[in-house]
Amino acid sequence: MAHALGARKLFSELSLTLRPGESVAVTGPSGSGKSTLLSCVLGLIRPSAGSVKVTGTEIVGLRPARLAAVRSRAVGMVFQFGELLPELSPLDNVVLAALLARSDRQGARDRAQKLLDDLGVPQAATSEELSGGERQRTAVARALINEPALLLADEPTGALDTETRDRTAELLFGLPRRYACGLLVVTHDPGVAARADRMLRLEAGVLKPVSSGASA
Ligand SMILES: Nc1ncnc2c1ncn2[C@@H]1O[C@H](COP(=O)(O)OP(=O)(O)OP(=O)(O)O)[C@@H](O)[C@H]1O
Ligand SMILES: [Mg+2]
Repeated sequence: MAHALGARKLFSELSLTLRPGESVAVTGPSGSGKSTLLSCVLGLIRPSAGSVKVTGTEIVGLRPARLAAVRSRAVGMVFQFGELLPELSPLDNVVLAALLARSDRQGARDRAQKLLDDLGVPQAATSEELSGGERQRTAVARALINEPALLLADEPTGALDTETRDRTAELLFGLPRRYACGLLVVTHDPGVAARADRMLRLEAGVLKPVSSGASA
């Protein structure tokens, strides 16, 4: 895949394959295109050339309705912050994602409650009442509710203290084995990246393997 912004080439001949159960961390300087790469995989940005396949389906050039269907069925995304609806309960935040993917209401509620219990999120009237770490775990539950084959996370621990960061990272990197999904994490934190099965670095338009132990 390749992506350019005007005359500026963000990356070219970039190739990445994730297997079920595998985790990959992408590091790289600010502005190198890491978030853009995730947006291409999510289908929010169309790469200027090349192909993006999600569970075998080519998503580049799909009609918006088909794309939305593939995305809600197969991909979960954890943003850095701000993606929960603050006035809804944690449960309703998670249920909403399932309803958007056309799940039946009672099944969605049961699955959402089980995920939140699994992830240790307490009951709350609104997600505003939760701590930062609890919100992040709610966001993880929301990303998992449709049992995605692929989970994407953009700096999921960026706003957390070290203890919550470690707990969230532990949780995230345990997900591929627990739910048999692929996990693609963008992070600036070398300690978080080191937990992945594979570490890659995006720099000057090229995605290269990083050997563990090298600085990120
Ligand atoms: N919609 C856009 N229009 C024009 N330029 C953009 C757009 N989105 C991103 N860019 C530019 O593309 C480059 C890559 O942005 P991107 O957000 O992918 O970087 P990043 O590697 O995620 O950086 P960071 O580590 O700071 O989050 C940046 O130089 C950014 O300014
Ligand atoms: Mg970014």
